[in-house]
Amino acid sequence: MGAYIGIDIGTSGTKTLVIDDAGRILAEAGASYPLHHPKPLWSEQDPEDWWRAVVRTVRAAVGESRVAPSDVRAIGLSGQMHGSVFLDKNHRVIRRAILWNDQRTADECAEIEQRAGGRKRLIQFVANPALTGFTAPKILWLRKHEPRNFEKCAKVLLPKDEIRRRLTGEFATDVSDASGTLLLDVRRRCWSQKLLERLDLDPGLLPPCHESEEVTGKLTRASARQLGLTTDCLVVGGAGDCAANAVGTGVVKSGVLSASIGTSGIMFVHSDEVQVDPLGRLHTFCHAVRDKWHMMGVSLTAGGSLQWFVDRLCGEVSGQRDAYAVLNEEATPIPAGSEGLFFLPYLAGERTPHADPDARGCFVGLTLAHGRGHLARAIMEGVAFAMRDSLEIIREMGVPVHQIRVSGGGAKSALWRRIQADVFGQGVVTINAEQGPAYGVALLASVGAGAYGRIEEACAATIQIASRTPAIALAMRAYDRAFPVYRDLYGSLRGDFKKISALAAPPRR
Ligand code: XUL
Repeated sequence: MGAYIGIDIGTSGTKTLVIDDAGRILAEAGASYPLHHPKPLWSEQDPEDWWRAVVRTVRAAVGESRVAPSDVRAIGLSGQMHGSVFLDKNHRVIRRAILWNDQRTADECAEIEQRAGGRKRLIQFVANPALTGFTAPKILWLRKHEPRNFEKCAKVLLPKDEIRRRLTGEFATDVSDASGTLLLDVRRRCWSQKLLERLDLDPGLLPPCHESEEVTGKLTRASARQLGLTTDCLVVGGAGDCAANAVGTGVVKSGVLSASIGTSGIMFVHSDEVQVDPLGRLHTFCHAVRDKWHMMGVSLTAGGSLQWFVDRLCGEVSGQRDAYAVLNEEATPIPAGSEGLFFLPYLAGERTPHADPDARGCFVGLTLAHGRGHLARAIMEGVAFAMRDSLEIIREMGVPVHQIRVSGGGAKSALWRRIQADVFGQGVVTINAEQGPAYGVALLASVGAGAYGRIEEACAATIQIASRTPAIALAMRAYDRAFPVYRDLYGSLRGDFKKISALAAPPRR
């Protein structure tokens, strides 16, 4: 028997699972770690915390699975995208990693556009505009604000690739994760020498780039010992968590869209060719499927909005029962549209479609009649509206969407599934595999080790539809009336968001 491990280094924690040749999950384990916000809208993590979580969860999952260490053929890595791990020439981490949801780099984004010769030219080089969460602006930020650290910097790695380095001793990344650095020529699936030159960045800072199922190395003796595995265990390219989740939910052919609600909300659609939104609102990245691409819209604070509500405002509910279950119960009987209450989920600024680090979260339309259930429902609806913003662009581009697969925490709630179907105006389905990114990269590991020829085959053999939620006409109509109001709110408030953000910023010296 062969066994394969999938590891997802997420923002709130690491999830690890073990599958067999047939894609059955034998065991899983999770471990969480802190997120640091040293300043408003800054977001950082310590790579050492990820490594500890990886060791703990691999040992726990392999132990529980009862597979022999020598049966573990390969590991696939997935992780939060765009984060930057800065290493010195001795491979020591220089400072905490700056994450995907950090918003400090607005000035560097402008600098990148200007150095590239304008936004259009930049999109020609790397298929995407400069966004604050991406990696390249973080490197420029380090150069400008922490020049001593930049001087020391010999390599910049994405979060999962720092774990790969510790597992295999190799520097490597995969094309799907590399797409989110803003330094990849997404059409040709290799680093963009042209952009690197214009940004005056040494190409040696970046690791070699692989397809997702390609083998990038084997465990070192030290890491094999730490994990309780063998030095024959392969490590494949893996994928950024969005592409990994798409693989793990079987979104590997055209016509299928994945709507996943984790901390962020991702609308992800497969594409056989490179298609670019000329306005740069959607990301165009390489897929974890060889020679395929995907388009994607990202709402930064999706499940994160409900989590914020629960953690910060529902302390007394969670004391008794699961706060999410209580909120679902309270929100379910409230009519579609939350009786005129809107929520804008821009708690950490917003990426798609506004690309605005100054955007802020808000409830609009509160009356004395609204209670906690309304607030919870408005949050779920606001997140679904934010994701519909991306869906509308995908539809505008003429990309076919025959099926919407929902996943992540947001798909676990029957109410949130219903809201998604009604807001999207199209039924949604769930699938049997619920582990998203970790499952996707475990499948990629099984392909890399030769259990399947291509990832599409592995998905077809293991992933099936589990449930269907059709859209209901009455609710669809209510949301079709509410959606333009939701959209207009950002337009009306944009100027005020800028002023609010300036007020909240610490005074410049
Ligand atoms: C994708 C993105 C997030 C992170 C979070 O572009 O920024 O989904 O990958 O995990």
